[in-house]
Amino acid sequence: MTKKRLLTGLQSSGDLHIGNYFGALKPFVEMYEDYDSFLMIADYHALTSVRDPEAMRRNTINVVKDYLAAGVDPAKAVIFRQSDNQDHTELGWVLNCMVTVPFLMQAHSYKDKVAKGNEANAGLFTYPMLQAADIALYDIDVVPVGEDQRQHLEYAREAVGKFNRAYGNTLKEPQEKILDAVGVIPGIDGAKMSKSYGNTIPLFGTPEEIKKAVMSIVTDSDGGRPENVYAIHKLLRSEDELKTIYKDNEGRYGDLKNILAEDLETLIAPMRERRNQISDEDVKAVLEDGAKRAKEVSGQILKQVRSAIGIEL
Ligand code: ADP
Ligand code: TRP
Repeated sequence: MTKKRLLTGLQSSGDLHIGNYFGALKPFVEMYEDYDSFLMIADYHALTSVRDPEAMRRNTINVVKDYLAAGVDPAKAVIFRQSDNQDHTELGWVLNCMVTVPFLMQAHSYKDKVAKGNEANAGLFTYPMLQAADIALYDIDVVPVGEDQRQHLEYAREAVGKFNRAYGNTLKEPQEKILDAVGVIPGIDGAKMSKSYGNTIPLFGTPEEIKKAVMSIVTDSDGGRPENVYAIHKLLRSEDELKTIYKDNEGRYGDLKNILAEDLETLIAPMRERRNQISDEDVKAVLEDGAKRAKEVSGQILKQVRSAIGIEL
């Protein structure tokens, strides 16, 4: 039986934290081998907010290293960069021509980003159509993403649907697969852990950095279970184990945080070790190979699109 196709995209916008690990990396690592998988670095999407070329380069290299270290085997998934395959910008344009300005104006993520002070550039506005192209180019069945991306998948289906109604069935309508099993992981201040809130426990920090972050997790001083510590701990140990640990150390927040820091270190140490073995050159080789494999698939779909719209004479 042939496997279904899966694709997910990541904006390369900064160092990963343990919220990203449990919310995105780990679920990807656990499922990608069941599918024909594509992992794409969405650097042209990142260009809607990143204006620093050095950050662009570093972030791309780093995020690929993070995924390789977390256990993605480049022989078993196509790991590639959006900007290495011009088919994305081309199909993005075609899909832009399928949807209206009022439709794009309703996108939550556009409205939220502009409300937060991001520049309302035209790239940010048409972002969902580039994302739709990312998916439609590979005949994708499932797209594992966080809840925040649900609407982008609806937009992708709408654009693909309009294309198919206008030109005949050419592109596949993708389904999202919302990754919500772990819920929202709190940061050291108790709010959602996020790069943009400066409240993270870094995934690939040094043991000292991780310990420092854990020790500064905010706790209530009522002597009960420190919920912010527990919320992270339960990702690492069974409830039974935790019951004993939290009973034996009742009220001793410092000791509980020490145990959490050690448990995190046990998880992270082997990944950090693997990550240190991966050079920038290794990453470039992975991306070069990925670009070729991606292009082989997307080229065929784009050819059908070009023929359908009547630009192949
Ligand atoms: P950030 O908020 O740090 O900018 P992103 O929005 O880049 O993170 O998140 C990438 C993915 O990582 C999200 O789609 C989500 O699945 C996961 N993720 C991020 N933060 C958390 C969190 N605090 N708890 C659970 N999952 C998270
Ligand atoms: N917009 C997604 C995010 O910010 C990233 C992304 C770009 C993506 N292209 C994609 C996700 C295609 C899934 C499929 O997280």
